[in-house]
Order: sequence, then C-alpha cells, then structure tokens
Amino acid sequence: MLALIDEHPTSDAIALDPDQLHPSPFSLTIYGDPAAEVDDLIASIREHGILVPLVVAAPGPEPKTWEVISGHRRLACAQAIGMVEVPCQVRQIPEGEARRTAVLEYNRQRRKTFSQLMREADALEQLWGAQARARRRANLLGSDHTECRNSDDRTTGTGRTDAAIARHLGLGGKDLYRQARTLWRMAASGDARAQSGVDQIDRGTRTIHAAYKDLRRRDRFGSDFRPTPYDVWTFRHDRAFGIPHPGSIPPALVAHTLHYYTAPGALVVDPMAGGGTTLDVCQSMGRRCLAYDLHPVRPEIHPHDVRLGLPPEAQGADLIFCDPPYHTMLAARYAPDSIAMAPLSGWMEFLHDLARHAFAALRPGGYLALLLAAQTEKDIPAGFGYIDHAFLGYEAARRAGFQPERRISCPMDGAYLPQHVRRARTEGRLLGQVRDLLVMRRPSRSMEGEPFDLASAGNGSV
Ligand SMILES: C[S@@+](CC[C@H](N)C(=O)[O-])C[C@H]1O[C@@H](n2cnc3c(N)ncnc32)[C@H](O)[C@@H]1O
Repeated sequence: MLALIDEHPTSDAIALDPDQLHPSPFSLTIYGDPAAEVDDLIASIREHGILVPLVVAAPGPEPKTWEVISGHRRLACAQAIGMVEVPCQVRQIPEGEARRTAVLEYNRQRRKTFSQLMREADALEQLWGAQARARRRANLLGSDHTECRNSDDRTTGTGRTDAAIARHLGLGGKDLYRQARTLWRMAASGDARAQSGVDQIDRGTRTIHAAYKDLRRRDRFGSDFRPTPYDVWTFRHDRAFGIPHPGSIPPALVAHTLHYYTAPGALVVDPMAGGGTTLDVCQSMGRRCLAYDLHPVRPEIHPHDVRLGLPPEAQGADLIFCDPPYHTMLAARYAPDSIAMAPLSGWMEFLHDLARHAFAALRPGGYLALLLAAQTEKDIPAGFGYIDHAFLGYEAARRAGFQPERRISCPMDGAYLPQHVRRARTEGRLLGQVRDLLVMRRPSRSMEGEPFDLASAGNGSV
C-alpha cells in the first residue's frame, strides 16, 4: 500500500498556521478525537516544538485549507498551546479513496485500541470491496482495462479478505479476526454485553478470544444446567453474564433461584439490577425479566428508585430477586444517592419499605429472594461484633406478611485480596464471608391474613 502513497508528489516542509489546517473527517471516525490522547505529547511539544512535520493534502481552490493526513495529535497539541505555525509536508493526494487509504497507511504503526482496529477493518472491507468490484467490471470490459485486471486480488473470496485484513491489522489469523468481527458487529447492534467486551479489550483487561467465548456461553444455563441439590451455593463469577459492576454476583446464584422458585416463562423482577446478571440469566433460562436501577448502566435496565415502590408493569411478578448494596460495605463505589450510603436506621427502614413494596407487587404465592451479607469489617455499632443483615431482612419481610421459604448460604468467594488475608492472619481476626439468600413467599390467597408465627403454627402444619 505504501506504493499508493508514494505515487503522490510531496513538497519540502513548509510552515502553516494551525488555523489553515483541518482534521481528516475519515481519521476522526476511525481513531476518534485526537485531543483526548495528547497528555503524553503536549509536554514534549511545549519543550521541543514539533520535530516531525505533519503530512497534509494540498488544498482545493477555495476555501484554502489543508486536510491533515497524518499528525492529528500534533495539531491538537499545537492548538492547545497556541502555536502560530506548524511544520507540514504537503502531498498531492486526491480526495476520496486515495486520501482514505493514505490515512490508514500513515497510521499503520500507531498503537491502536481494539475499537480503532475494528473501525479500520470496516474501512478496509469497504475500500477493498470497491476495488474488487472495479476489477471485476474491468475484467468484463476486456483488455482496455488491463491495469485494473492485473492488480493484486486479496479481496477475491470472503476467506481471503478476512485473512488479508487480519494480516494487515496484525490480528493473527482469519479465525481470530472473525471472532473479533462477530463481537464488534454485536456491539454495533446495541448488545450491551458485546459492548462491554469491546470496552474490556480496549482497556487491555480481556482478550478477543475470551470476550468471544463469553458470547458463546450465554445460553449455558439453558442448555447445560446441573443444579446443586444442596442449600449451600458457592459459585464463581462468570463474565458471560452481566457486565462488570461493583458488587456483581455469580450468575449461578440467580440460575439456582430461578430453577427452584420459578417456572419457564415466569416474570422475574430485579429492582437493583447493577450490571444485569439477573437479566442475562433470565434470558438464558427462558424467564421474562424486568430490570431497574437507580443508575442503569445498560439500555435494558430502566431507571427507577425502588424506594418509590415497583412500577406498574412489575405488578403480578412471580419472583423479585433483589441484591441490595450491603449497607455501607463497598459504599464508596456506588452513587451518593444510593441506599448504600444510608445510616443503619435508614437502611433498616429501607429493608422494611422494600419488603412492603415487594409484597404488593408479587402475585399471591410469588417469592422474594433477598441476598444479604453479614457485616463484619466496618461501621459496626459499639458493642456489636457484627450486623446480621439477613436477620434484619427476615424481620422486615415477616412484618410485611411474607412466609419464610428457605435460607440458603451463599459464601462470598474471593471477596478479599491476598494482603487482607495476610493482615487478618497476623492480627488474629476472622474475615466475614457469610452471605445468605433469604427466600420468602407471599402467602397464597387462601392463607392471606392468617396469623403466621411459629407458636401458632403447630407441628408440621406450616
Ligand atoms: C450490589 S449492586 C447489584 C449488582 C447486581 N446483582 C449484579 O450482579 O451486577 C446494587 C445496585 O443497587 C442500586 N441501587 C442502590 N440504591 C438504589 C435504589 N434506591 N433504587 C434502585 N437501585 C438502587 C445500585 O445502583 C447498584 O447498582
């Protein structure tokens, strides 16, 4: 491709006023706003000036401005520090395909994010596709167009195009490129989990292959689910469900709750949905799900403050799955208006309101599943060794009219960093891992209003 660029005549470097330059719109679509990436460069340019001239395309007749082909970050720095001229090398590159090709080629050695690479891939598919069509037309027209006919044919056949693009982008083979493209296209179609995968690859916290495998595991609970028959649920996180979020939970916790307490097609409501683990597991297991959060992070999660009750469309739910932020634990990672910031009295009041709202929204016989950890590490009232949130939740739910169905132990796996563990060992402190899923049932209509306490229940009559 360099040959294509070398075809365009070049000048010696000249000095141009930054106001006479404009960025290439094509470059902005592929690589984004250069002003967002100048931190490392600006100090150097302030001290030493611009050492390597920008490459600009010779202007058309009017208005007389030069389009930048290479050097968008340098131009952004020059504008930010008020330079009055910048060194530029002018090339005669015609508008259109040749200019787009030149932009891609000049950026070939730049360190790029996954998104930038995939936008390049989209552009290459288009450019090479257009070149292939031109060659096919030339072949049909005969020998007058030998120049086109004999050009390189990397775009003949999808397989070869994929391999050529993968090679060009430095992505390895066509298989990895195809995985990248699947992920990229799903993200472009608005799929929140694919978008989160792309984000993680951009930040370097996930590989293309791992993010692609997450997509393939999405129906894991629908096709290959072997529930544990025990009431101790210790499961691992799985990034195929939910998007990264403070306090996100292992999806198997939700899958087991759905398995034991709902039927396929049931309406499940998660009023504090976070990264959307419940939403994704419901999709995998064929349950309908309505998800809400004070600060939604995905388009399928609707903004709603559960302190106001549950929205009308959630009425008649079969299951309400609720994973509140456990009082002040992790509070700093939630928004200031989150219930995580409330003092203990406000938090207890919240549990009572939540239980009342859940009772009102559930159908008779429906379940409230409340995930609550015991608090042991901080904000413990004087004289207390810990706060038993599951017990507080139980009291609140009982007072709202719920019957106890089950208490399932869900120890918090991997909640501590190695340095926390080392410190606890030296200080002789027990680290808290107790977390419970409290499952409470709204009584069926025939039992509603009946007194329900252990003293009056009698042996085996509950
Ligand atoms: C522990 S996180 C839920 C994590 C989720 N289960 C997951 O796997 O990603 C608790 C969520 O409750 C939300 N929240 C806090 N106060 C709320 C309120 N008053 N109404 C609705 N959501 C609230 C927070 O924004 C946070 O996303």
